[in-house]
Amino acid sequence: MSRIDKLTPEKMKRILNVVDRLMRLYEDGALGGEVMPEDANPDLPKDSDENYLYFTLPMALNYQRNSYRMWESALRTYQDKETMDVFCLTAVVDMGIDTLREKLCKHRLALQPNKHPQIWMQLCQTFAQNFDGSVKRFFAKNNYCVANIKNYMGTNKKLFPYLSGAKIMNYWLYVMGQYTDAVFADKENITVAPDTHVMQASAKLGLITPDDMTSPNIRPIVSDLWNAVLEGSSWCPIDVHTPLWLWSRGGFVADTRKKMTIRQEQPGDYAKVYALVKAAFATTSHSDGTEPDYLNALRKKDAFIPALSLVAEIADKLVGQIVLYETQITTPGGAITQLVLSPISVHPNYFRQGIARAMMDHAFGVALELNYTAVFLCGEPEIYYGLGFVPSYGFGIYHVDDPDKNANWCMAKELVPGALNGVTGTIEIE
Ligand SMILES: CC(C)(COP(=O)(O)OP(=O)(O)OC[C@H]1O[C@@H](n2cnc3c(N)ncnc32)[C@H](O)[C@@H]1OP(=O)(O)O)[C@@H](O)C(=O)NCCC(=O)NCCS
Repeated sequence: MSRIDKLTPEKMKRILNVVDRLMRLYEDGALGGEVMPEDANPDLPKDSDENYLYFTLPMALNYQRNSYRMWESALRTYQDKETMDVFCLTAVVDMGIDTLREKLCKHRLALQPNKHPQIWMQLCQTFAQNFDGSVKRFFAKNNYCVANIKNYMGTNKKLFPYLSGAKIMNYWLYVMGQYTDAVFADKENITVAPDTHVMQASAKLGLITPDDMTSPNIRPIVSDLWNAVLEGSSWCPIDVHTPLWLWSRGGFVADTRKKMTIRQEQPGDYAKVYALVKAAFATTSHSDGTEPDYLNALRKKDAFIPALSLVAEIADKLVGQIVLYETQITTPGGAITQLVLSPISVHPNYFRQGIARAMMDHAFGVALELNYTAVFLCGEPEIYYGLGFVPSYGFGIYHVDDPDKNANWCMAKELVPGALNGVTGTIEIE
């Protein structure tokens, strides 16, 4: 008996009920997702060949890595005059693999120095040589028909490395439908793209078992199962992809962020914030227990900016705090004022529900209004890379305690792309 045959009508109905609820929550913004990974893009005209290409080439490097970081690297590569020609098909085809490698690695768009440039080069050659240099032409030759496109890519896999894989091909077509002006005749043939979050959501709903997650070839089966569940419903498979993804990414807690408010910290909050910082840092091995007192002392310093000390609340319960304060980058041309993020804490009961991300987004918005353009911090790279930070040495800015100029624990994020271009120097963060 196949897995699809094992799907009883009762089970499908139960899953569809949850899907209906998730779709409503998604439309209300209760699953988060205000900023999707692909939103980091140069905002090219939707119908331009350049835009079609922008959402095609990086997609083929988007496996087993953080999508937010990948699309931020793509944007940085596009915005850098030295590297932007990797998005020009004719330039890539003529440039030679070593130059391409250097350019794709500069902003960590390519993480695998051999494989990734080869994938990029092959795709450029495919579109340049077979489709007049245009992804649009490729769609047009297939009558904007998903079934035809899939069939063509499936039978010419070598021309579309990685992009022709079941998972990414569906996701790519979905993104093209969202971010370009492509309108597909048979959108229902774009199946759910079974990435890790969708797999986890599928297991949570009982569509597969947790053990299935690791069984070989399970991903196309999950796509088929979703097709079966949604057949005859009001949803196309790809419509439910993002809600499922966000639901899993938010730890299957649907409405945390919707119920949360973020506001400036007030003196009346100090005692609660003290307890929160203590509880949050008690969970980490790198804490020396001094963080709550450090924050008390920080509030008395000139560098402290009340508008950049925020708290997050859910139903009057304090669940997070974030502080950005002023610092100086020492450069040969004089001191430059920017911000340090420290500390940030979330109540342990609310970890991994997007609260830190939401507080950062809010605080960075205020910082921009106050004309700051970059934020630095010291911390664990594995946490902050996922939040858009990169090692500050990449910008030529080194922590004073980093004589080897290679510390990945000192990180920076530009609030305005290019804000740190041409700034080199040292920074001191306690
Ligand atoms: C670090 C901390 C503030 C994160 O808060 P959070 O609300 O759980 O973080 P979010 O849910 O917004 O996570 C956003 C992203 O940060 C990264 N991240 C957060 N916690 C992480 C962890 N423990 N390990 C790896 N990555 C992590 C992930 O990329 C995550 O995105 P994802 O959930 O889509 O994978 C929280 O764990 C905390 O208060 N820790 C104790 C205090 C502390 O260590 N502060 C930082 C000092 S260096």
